[in-house]
Amino acid sequence: MKVIVTENKIQGGAKAFEIFEKGIKNGAKVLGLATGSTPETLYQNWVESDLNCSDLISINLDEYVGLKPDNPQSYHYFMQKHLFDKKPFKKTYVPDGMTEDVKSFCKEYDQIIKDNPIDIQLLGIGRNGHIAFNEPGTPFTSTTHEVKLTENTIKANSRFFDNIDEVPKSAICMGIANIMSAKKIVLMAFGEKKAHAIKEMLEGEISEEVPATILQKHPDVTVICDEAAAQELDDKYKN
Ligand code: F6R
Repeated sequence: MKVIVTENKIQGGAKAFEIFEKGIKNGAKVLGLATGSTPETLYQNWVESDLNCSDLISINLDEYVGLKPDNPQSYHYFMQKHLFDKKPFKKTYVPDGMTEDVKSFCKEYDQIIKDNPIDIQLLGIGRNGHIAFNEPGTPFTSTTHEVKLTENTIKANSRFFDNIDEVPKSAICMGIANIMSAKKIVLMAFGEKKAHAIKEMLEGEISEEVPATILQKHPDVTVICDEAAAQELDDKYKN
């Protein structure tokens, strides 16, 4: 994995945008996208750029079950607000959190990913090493599925809701096998709370107990982290 350490998340977002822009100019058409606080500086650079997105397809990692697309806490809403409203894409896919048949929906989403192989996949990382909502213990062979959120993730996400009871208890999420099928992966992490997960991901043993460790097996991963998230890393990673 290639590691780029930036001073802060502003520079990290600019660096990540550079990689996406270059990839798109070189022919990338299908982008796997993520939500959360981490990619905000990337999307900021994106909307301020003159990059034309009208022939791009995006496929998002996840969505809460039970939230309508117009709910400000939904990932649909997040993507519209931070990127799609300002940069229209040819087609955008975000899992349907309101589907009445989650199982069939997950199969359809897998088919969408098969029909539109992801050129560049963006990831954040959880403090416990989760990628998308794939929590510790998720099989590396997993495809799109419904995930019960752990207490820790519910607590971490409650900062976006009025109270913790409003945080959805499950989500629809791409599986680890879907993520690993992307041709190129860009993972971003900012802040000291991510430092341990970043160290485990890069230096730890590959284990389903730390989902992000599987990325050691992917041939093209770039990790962009700020100095705080990189603080536990061996010196060889620091540039
Ligand atoms: C979001 C996602 C999650 C986040 C992770 C980090 O689509 O899949 O895995 O990337 O929970 O969240 P933030 O960026 O808010 O620290």
